[in-house]
Amino acid sequence: MPLKKLVDLSIPSSQDYLPQVDSFVEKLLKATKFPKDDLDDVAISVSEAVNNAILHGNQSDESKKVFIKVYLSKKYIRISVRDEGGGFKPERVPDPTEDENLLKASGRGLLIMQHLMDRLAFKPTSKGTEIILDKFCPEGC
Ligand SMILES: Nc1ncnc2c1ncn2[C@@H]1O[C@H](COP(=O)(O)OP(=O)(O)O)[C@@H](O)[C@H]1O
Ligand SMILES: [Mg+2]
Repeated sequence: MPLKKLVDLSIPSSQDYLPQVDSFVEKLLKATKFPKDDLDDVAISVSEAVNNAILHGNQSDESKKVFIKVYLSKKYIRISVRDEGGGFKPERVPDPTEDENLLKASGRGLLIMQHLMDRLAFKPTSKGTEIILDKFCPEGC
């Protein structure tokens, strides 16, 4: 399935850029046949992924960047978010649904992305961690 790259964007590691990324991705998706009802799911997931890349991956080091790419195929929209950090092991992250973690305010981003998106993949690369978020377009994109 050919994937068409719609966007190739990079931002410094600061949360100041989150609203810009958010409105940019939203505008872009609105211009496709992507279902409007699913826009918020994608927007929330992208902001969780970019936030993690800034805070955990790049540890807010503004000399490091977060790379955001948006792809479209006939069946799904794909957003890739890459940081320049040392990576992590998703299976070692504490389960936020365990009793001992229920009252913690943090640690829910990965779970939220898993629920809101249709497919989630982590790719450790030599240049940092890449997270790939896919959402299907039920009627075609
Ligand atoms: N891009 C990343 N680089 C390094 N560690 C990450 C990254 N994304 C997530 N993590 C790790 O996974 C944990 C869980 O992430 P998340 O569920 O978003 O919760 P929170 O961001 O509130 O800690 C983080 O605390 C961090 O240890
Ligand atoms: Mg997070």
